[in-house]
Amino acid sequence: MTQEDARFPKDFVFGAATAAYQCEGETRTHGKGKVAWDDYLDEKGLFSADPASDFYHRYPEDLRLCQEYGINGIRVSIAWSRIFPNGDDPVPNSEGVAFYHRLFAECRSRGVEPYVTLHHFDSPDALYREGDFLNQHAIDAFERYARFCFAEYPEVTHWFTFNEIWAVVSNMYIEGTWPRGQRYRLDLAFQAMHNMMVAHARAVLAFEELGHPGSIGVVHALSTKYPDDPAAAGDVEAARIDDVLNNQFLLEATFDGRYSEETLDCANRLAALAGGRLEFLPEDLEQLAAAAPHNDCLGINYYQSNFLKAYDGPNDCHHNSTGEKGTERHALQGIGEYVARPEIPRTDWDWMIYPQGLYDLVMRICRQWPHYKELYVTENGMASKDRLEEGAVHDEERIHYIREHLRWALKAIAEGAHLRGYFVWSLMDVFSWNNGYNKRYGLFYVDFDTQERIPKDSARWYAKVAQERFLDT
Ligand code: NOJ
Repeated sequence: MTQEDARFPKDFVFGAATAAYQCEGETRTHGKGKVAWDDYLDEKGLFSADPASDFYHRYPEDLRLCQEYGINGIRVSIAWSRIFPNGDDPVPNSEGVAFYHRLFAECRSRGVEPYVTLHHFDSPDALYREGDFLNQHAIDAFERYARFCFAEYPEVTHWFTFNEIWAVVSNMYIEGTWPRGQRYRLDLAFQAMHNMMVAHARAVLAFEELGHPGSIGVVHALSTKYPDDPAAAGDVEAARIDDVLNNQFLLEATFDGRYSEETLDCANRLAALAGGRLEFLPEDLEQLAAAAPHNDCLGINYYQSNFLKAYDGPNDCHHNSTGEKGTERHALQGIGEYVARPEIPRTDWDWMIYPQGLYDLVMRICRQWPHYKELYVTENGMASKDRLEEGAVHDEERIHYIREHLRWALKAIAEGAHLRGYFVWSLMDVFSWNNGYNKRYGLFYVDFDTQERIPKDSARWYAKVAQERFLDT
């Protein structure tokens, strides 16, 4: 990489990301309504999202740290049930509404641009109980909630509707590791992805209709799928089908506003194998089509890629939620199985570290949807069981991880990708859905007993990159 190629565009956003339920705390106070996670975590008795990183009270300190460390963008999400406690109440909860005004004002005063997501894994419990996005009511209520937020918060100019629709459905209906806990229901997974994309489309159209300034998009969790053996037809097919499930279906809904024949064939076949059938209403498809050209940007959450082998056994997944390396297993009937490659490192949670996958993904979007407008890497980061040693966290591995992903991002930019920014997951250590608190991603270490924030080595390194707009090698 030449000196010039190692330089970031002058308006590149060096961001960091958070999500309401993972950092705010105060999950059942100040008028906030329940979300499905509340009872689920109580029943499991493993961890609590209270006070998490106590962002509800400590956001001024976190934003001061952003400013000090050159972080000029922050991803936050609005907790839907802090605004509408039951998801669709006639009157919003004024305390919740006021909290986000204070938060956005603090962002502005610190020169940190807020990128705001409307739904980050936290559907209000009342809607969840009715079937969440498998029920039309959630789609209608989401549109009302989105309209309310657009009108209420003109100080926000960057909006995302959903965070990681794929993660929602795979954890709820395929792996069964989140509330709902259903397994191998690919029919429900595809149906929920479609319905959430319809809700996204309706929010995009509302944003357009209201004439709000600024941009709107969706954040997808994408992973590049490679055949383990590119010469083996079965492996190539396994990678193709898994790509449809994880990436292609959602990207077509986003950018084309329709599904191709190949994608529909695949989705219908997998739904039938799971014992169900998909229903895409004509009026919903019309909204998808109408909204597609109005997507201003796409957020990409990229953590890992997967290598696949052909597989004709039964469904067999085991999710590594404890950080015991080597315990993950992922094999789906009608698709294929993930294989570990000895030469490719993995995190303790068995996520394959493959920075080139980010580049391949970005370039594939540029090629396949040349009419896309802007891309952001809205999440990328490395989990580890960080330890505080004499007041410091020496997280060399995280620095290496981020540096390598930024290097491939720069290559994509040099080749013409409209990649406008990068957000480290996460700004500070936060609550992790399946893992509680031993899976840390933050640039800032959080002592969860005292809530003290301690900059890790990665925070200092990232500050230097952001300040110099240059990637050291
Ligand atoms: C993606 C999600 O958006 C975030 O909530 C999660 O904690 C990270 N990935 C790490 O798993």
